[in-house]
Amino acid sequence: MVKPDGVQRGLIGEVFSRIEKRGLKIVAMRMNVISPDTAKKHYAEHVQKPFFNSLISFITSGPSVSFVVEGKNAVSVMRSVNGSTNPVNAATGSIRGDLALDTGRNIVHASDSVESAQREIAIHFKESEIVPYSRIDESWIYE
Ligand code: RTP
Ligand code: MG
Repeated sequence: MVKPDGVQRGLIGEVFSRIEKRGLKIVAMRMNVISPDTAKKHYAEHVQKPFFNSLISFITSGPSVSFVVEGKNAVSVMRSVNGSTNPVNAATGSIRGDLALDTGRNIVHASDSVESAQREIAIHFKESEIVPYSRIDESWIYE
């Protein structure tokens, strides 16, 4: 997901560009303002955390872009493309390491496991909204 700060800062293209150039494939996408109910489901794992309420109000504060990424080791590759949660610790070359300063304004979200990805995709997308296709460069990306 490109969070509301990423949209407001004009970074949608920057985020997608890095992911596409890495070789991962975008197979679904949508811009919307996430409802509080959906946001609470999405971040259910953090319900007891002190930052939960501010996280929900931030993530629902404006348009965000949700999307599904497919490819070899997509979960772990996306975590490293995004960088550490706190941008101070995020590697230079990552989205957060290059473009963010604050944990609460860290531009992007990515699922932290295959199980989380399956759960989160089902929250944001219908099965029919996931579009299977081949990219013409796949034989140059995969051995
Ligand atoms: P995300 O879920 O957004 O991809 O980020 P993440 O896995 O790297 O981090 P996670 O621990 O899941 O936290 C979710 C989001 O909550 C905000 N947060 N604030 N104030 C705090 O201590 C704190 N900790 C986390 C961040 O926006 C984080 O991305
Ligand atoms: Mg997380």
